[in-house]
Amino acid sequence: MVREWDPRTASSAEIASLLDTLNAVLAADLPQDPPWRESSLREYLAEVMPGERRISWIAQEDPDADGTPGAILGQVHVLLLGNIGVLEVLVHPTVRRSGLGRDLVLRAARRVYQEGFESIGVEVVGDTPAVAFYESLGFGREYVETRSVLDLSGVDWAELAEMSIGLGAGYRVEFHPGGPPDELIEAYARAKAEIRDIEDGELRPSSYDPQRLRDSLDCLHRRGMKPYIVLALHEQTGEVAGLTEVVVPAQHPTRADQYDTIVVQDHRGYGIDRAIKARMLLELRSAEPQLTEVQTWNAQANEAMLKVNAELGYRTDRDWCEYSIDVAELVHRLDATR
Ligand SMILES: CC(C)(COP(=O)(O)OP(=O)(O)OC[C@H]1O[C@@H](n2cnc3c(N)ncnc32)[C@H](O)[C@@H]1OP(=O)(O)O)[C@@H](O)C(=O)NCCC(=O)NCCS
Repeated sequence: MVREWDPRTASSAEIASLLDTLNAVLAADLPQDPPWRESSLREYLAEVMPGERRISWIAQEDPDADGTPGAILGQVHVLLLGNIGVLEVLVHPTVRRSGLGRDLVLRAARRVYQEGFESIGVEVVGDTPAVAFYESLGFGREYVETRSVLDLSGVDWAELAEMSIGLGAGYRVEFHPGGPPDELIEAYARAKAEIRDIEDGELRPSSYDPQRLRDSLDCLHRRGMKPYIVLALHEQTGEVAGLTEVVVPAQHPTRADQYDTIVVQDHRGYGIDRAIKARMLLELRSAEPQLTEVQTWNAQANEAMLKVNAELGYRTDRDWCEYSIDVAELVHRLDATR
């Protein structure tokens, strides 16, 4: 049975069952990724940025004879933002290829269409069944990034300490657990605005204005995801010349996610990228002692950043693709094949 589902009011047993399915999916499709934990999973699924909505459906087995609710074997949710719905679908490996994934997409697509949104986007992990699945539904590939993973047990910490101080004169590097301090929010947002058209994909929008940045940090905290920031300040002007952001999620606290790293155009060529990333790893080592890995996503054309990541010890992991489709076309196609 497929039904609309609200993580805010779901029972703890449902949250635990969804976690089991998510971990079965990870074990099948991304066996090197750490399993997820239940801590803040409800909040992770429920909390959104102001102005955004996430709508979810689950596929649940029938209850037992004694009324015990059945396991959750599939889930879809769609995040409505701007004029796009961002989709995520999961189907337990034991019930795949029976049409459940397609059914779940149809539920979400119909709602996105009724709500008047134009297109649906989805992140698709390379070398997993999701590629053939979305291509069979007519989604087109828009953008490809490479995910890389750094194993912290292989890091040469002494070398990293050298890298962290090897930047040009006139810059000061600062570490800010939790997010940039309020007095730096405006300069921070200006630095992020500079690269917005160059390096970001569509589905992970960055925050370019101060209020959106505050909202985004607040949303991360509510979802159980702790942000850490290292920035390089240009001492003469007080401008943020470079920044790097890492998030440690309560759901998988041994593997952190690298978010944006930006060096503002005028400040390139002074070793800032290398220095701020190295400083971040040094700080995380003491702030998050359970951490064993950091993962990052880069555009394949971003050779400079890929080079620095390789120097830090990141290994290329796999493609991470954005696919999209016109909603009306998707609904039409799915209805026609039922
Ligand atoms: C992608 C996914 C949702 C598909 O679910 P599903 O229930 O197996 O999909 P369906 O049965 O509805 O398949 C629909 C069509 O997609 C295509 N397809 C799906 N899986 C495929 C596969 N492994 N190989 C080739 N084609 C495939 C087929 O055309 C299929 O139609 P057919 O079975 O009649 O040939 C499921 O594999 C999944 O949950 N993957 C993980 C997704 C994810 O987000 N992971 C993130 C962490 S890894």
